[in-house]
Amino acid sequence: MKQPKRYLVTSALPYANGPVHIGHLAGVYVPSDIYVRYLRGKGADVISICGSDEHGVPITIKAKKEGVTPQDVVDKYHGIIKDAFRRFGISFDIYSRTSSATHARTASDFFRKLYEQGEFIEQTTEQYYDPEAQQFLADRYITGTCPKCQSEGAYGDQCEKCGSTLSPTELIDPKSAITGATPVLKKTKHWFLPLDKYEPMLREWILKEHGADNGGEHEVWKSNVYGQCKSWLDGGLLPRAVSRDLDWGIPVPVEGAEGKVLYVWFDAPIGYISATKELFAGKGDPEGWRPYWQDEDTKLVHFIGKDNIVFHCIVFPSMLRVHGDFILPENVPANEFLNLENDKISTSRNWAVWLHEYLDEFPGKEDVLRYVLCANAPETKDNDFTWRDFQARNNNELVAIFGNFVNRAFVLTHKYFGGRVPAVDPAAGLTDYDRETIGEIPRIKAAIEQNIENYRFREALKEMMNLARLGNKYLADTEPWKVIKTDETRVATILNISLQITAGLAIAAEPFLPFTAKKLAGMLRLPSSALRWDHIGCMTLLEAGHELGEAELLFEKIEDSVVEAQLKKLEATKAANAAANATVAPAKEEMVQFDDFAKMDIRVSKVIAAEPVPKTKKLLKLTVDTGLDTRTIVSGIAECFSAEEMVGKRVLVLVNLAPRMLRGIESQGMILMAESPTGKLSVVAPVADDESASETAPVGSTVG
Ligand code: 2FM
Ligand code: ZN
Repeated sequence: MKQPKRYLVTSALPYANGPVHIGHLAGVYVPSDIYVRYLRGKGADVISICGSDEHGVPITIKAKKEGVTPQDVVDKYHGIIKDAFRRFGISFDIYSRTSSATHARTASDFFRKLYEQGEFIEQTTEQYYDPEAQQFLADRYITGTCPKCQSEGAYGDQCEKCGSTLSPTELIDPKSAITGATPVLKKTKHWFLPLDKYEPMLREWILKEHGADNGGEHEVWKSNVYGQCKSWLDGGLLPRAVSRDLDWGIPVPVEGAEGKVLYVWFDAPIGYISATKELFAGKGDPEGWRPYWQDEDTKLVHFIGKDNIVFHCIVFPSMLRVHGDFILPENVPANEFLNLENDKISTSRNWAVWLHEYLDEFPGKEDVLRYVLCANAPETKDNDFTWRDFQARNNNELVAIFGNFVNRAFVLTHKYFGGRVPAVDPAAGLTDYDRETIGEIPRIKAAIEQNIENYRFREALKEMMNLARLGNKYLADTEPWKVIKTDETRVATILNISLQITAGLAIAAEPFLPFTAKKLAGMLRLPSSALRWDHIGCMTLLEAGHELGEAELLFEKIEDSVVEAQLKKLEATKAANAAANATVAPAKEEMVQFDDFAKMDIRVSKVIAAEPVPKTKKLLKLTVDTGLDTRTIVSGIAECFSAEEMVGKRVLVLVNLAPRMLRGIESQGMILMAESPTGKLSVVAPVADDESASETAPVGSTVG
């Protein structure tokens, strides 16, 4: 697009059902914050929008589990997330929430407009309903046996054991997670957005306008984003339900929709619009949001993680387009995922570095995390965060390069010139090497710009560090600490140049390391009017005679013990997870004492005759030789074994079980069987189940 007049930058609204972790930060919030801080430095008209995503089933599940209301859950996490972002220096212009009244109105109006335009398809389908709780069940509220791997506890949308995607009706023996009741299929009406109808429009917009050979008028989308969109489009789009049967969310604002709410993915992205409205209402300019969402000369950019691509590139743009009052995003620079110590970050397994905990444990080190997350940002592929890398990047890059350069420039100026910026020697002027060094600065500045504007934040960060490297090299090559002995005016020139680079660094670092940049600008006593992006490379940012503040330490070394403590914490998490997964040992009072066990008389026996018990499906009447006697046992195994199959088998029998009557037959003991999770029975027998095996224990052997 042409030079935009204004920028509207959105960052994915985090779900308010848990705190934010480093994966969220590296994927979405650190890049978006670098982008908007850079644009602000350029003097652009830019607003940065975010807020909590407070609807959806996981929030209601969490509330049920904790015995609180969904509102309690979102209030708690909205507070934690908002506060953590603020402390971490993520500079949203507004951090709103989707439970706000403005949002309810905006989302309802949006739905109603599409409804009135006749956009939706109304469809009645059959869905699982809990007759006890008297409510429809969202996929996550239905559990049962996985049809693929047979493990129990699979959800209606997914089996977490084998990873299969499921639909609720595929589950074997489905149960409601609310009451345990068996759900029944019941008809329910929903509204569907006919995405298939928008396919030609989406193809034109995504594949042509934002594909590699678009003629340069629009931004070319990242290949991971483009690729995902293309495969969705090539696979053929289907209508998508935008309503749900749930009691938490924004009510579907039409008649005949009692008990139905907007699907969370319908309302959440509209949250960007609601938040923008709130931002301007708060400024006393209630119409001020419009140009950002409605004028074609606005550049809208959505920062998201890869799991949100379809919603931001296909569903939401379709909604915006058919609504008609809104612009579409110019770019959706989605990132891949960040892992932690070679393992997938997982909220349920507590495998994460939580932002609020980091901030508590590493006060004053916000920028270290920002730096490491940007340096490792999963821009083109999934990436890994490790505490060793965190330490190395801090010690070898921030301390050794950035901090070292700034510190040397300051200390030497204080030492030789009483803390005042020395003037360039007017007589000798600049050397070729000085000019060469200075000439590098605009190249670095342009490289940072190019990279940020193309969403390559890792490269941009490297270039910013190249400015510090340049300064370091300049000092190392010119050796002012040696030259001072013979030529003070030359040292004045060297330090003047070094300090101008330092000032440039205070500006260039701001998008990436805002706390450090602020501290550095304070040390340099640079007025805020000087802190403009285009001043990078200006060699008169600091006038001769300008008094510097004291040198402060920008970064400090991180010791091994700090890293080890974090690794220990993760190990403890692993151990806790392993313990939770292991079979829970019964409480002491539930344990069987040895004496109780010793009372049981189990013997190797042989089935000598078998017949089905009439009018039953499950029972067989067996005659067994226990070695003590021949007796009758009635056993519920007929669904797994025929009478013929049982004859001749060697089995284990609990012979001193009190006799009981089953269908008029006295059963004198019990055959021991192994039962698989799916209910399949197998004979438990010593080594082999027939007499042909030579090493089997003879009939009558005791077991214990
Ligand atoms: O994936 C998520 O965390 C969602 N809550 C993102 C929503 S982004 C937007 F559309 F609101
Ligand atoms: Zn499975």
